[in-house]
Amino acid sequence: MGKIKVGVIGAGSISEMHFDSYKHNQDVEIHAVCDINEERAKEKAEKYGAEKFFKSYHDLLADTEIDAVSICTWNNTHAEIAIAALHAGKHVLVEKPLCKTVEEALEIEKAVKNSGGKTLQVGFVRRFGTNTQVLKEFIDAGELGEIYYAKASCLRALGNPGGWFADKERSGGGPLIDLGVHVIDLCWYLMGKPKVKSVSGNAYYNLGNRSNVKNKSFYKAADYDPNTNTVEDMANAIIRFENGASLMVDVSFTLHVKKETMAVSVFGDKGGAEIEPELEIITERNNTILNATPQIDELSFDFVKGFQKEINHFVTCVKGEAETISPVEDGVEIMKMLAGVYESSETGKEIHFDK
Ligand SMILES: NC(=O)c1ccc[n+]([C@@H]2O[C@H](COP(=O)([O-])OP(=O)(O)OC[C@H]3O[C@@H](n4cnc5c(N)ncnc54)[C@H](O)[C@@H]3O)[C@@H](O)[C@H]2O)c1
Repeated sequence: MGKIKVGVIGAGSISEMHFDSYKHNQDVEIHAVCDINEERAKEKAEKYGAEKFFKSYHDLLADTEIDAVSICTWNNTHAEIAIAALHAGKHVLVEKPLCKTVEEALEIEKAVKNSGGKTLQVGFVRRFGTNTQVLKEFIDAGELGEIYYAKASCLRALGNPGGWFADKERSGGGPLIDLGVHVIDLCWYLMGKPKVKSVSGNAYYNLGNRSNVKNKSFYKAADYDPNTNTVEDMANAIIRFENGASLMVDVSFTLHVKKETMAVSVFGDKGGAEIEPELEIITERNNTILNATPQIDELSFDFVKGFQKEINHFVTCVKGEAETISPVEDGVEIMKMLAGVYESSETGKEIHFDK
């Protein structure tokens, strides 16, 4: 088999991580780039040596030389592009979140099932962090026992990126769907992917984007506009699973919090672990509680290495040498949780899922 020819759809910020990682994979040729902003597509094509660039993803998908695509566009386009790509016979790596709604997620799942064995990998990049992978080995070896509780906090004091991120129509929501998706998935993956039973959540729209704040910088989308913001500024939830386990989560774009927080922990009946801010395993030996710090290069999530491993894994799957560890079914289950939090918040009720 020759090199895998890849097309990247959406040439904004996160596409850089895809381009760089593909560039460092010897089995890949970056063949084409697409962006509705044609200038951006052209720029990236030149930078990464892609032969072609397109303004319409339909034209990119019509290129029969392309084996696989990365979808790095706004969330509201993930479903239609993923389905069209599968119909065109391409393997798909789609950025998180899989899409905006459960209905869309189920449509994508159907398209994968009818694709004759094409891979669709959801960009749950934190699964590929060294800290996650090391901990997963301990969990798989039974060192933590049965995990019955997990807790995740991803709090920004100030950090609504604006642009499409702040436009619910294009993003599907704020910090829950943008940041919460990562930490909810991380916990759920390490918990052994139990089926979701119910969700109770709250989304707050109390602080706006706080564009009035001075002397504190934050990441802004290219098309930042202080007057546009339709997404929540914080959300929290308790998620129950069919096996009795539960997950508590809170996330914010802005909150009156002392400092930025990234804390993710899982707790089992034999041991527990902090994954973020740094991997640490907590257990009991000889009637003594032990805190064990693994000697590994990175105790926290390493963005660049994580992306490289995510892309390498995708390429291995495209070559038919592995099954993705981040399949469409997982994207559907996570979408149920995210949509459940928003629905619970709107109705003021706990949302229950059928078996
Ligand atoms: N895995 C991660 O850690 C991570 C981090 C950031 C963003 N993301 C995800 O990546 C995606 C893109 O985010 P971003 O920060 O790069 O946004 P961005 O705004 O920087 O880039 C998005 C690009 O997509 C283009 N685009 C939009 N609709 C298109 C269409 N129909 N066809 C072709 N191009 C189109 C836009 O013109 C833009 O250039 C989002 O889904 C986001 O949630 C993931």
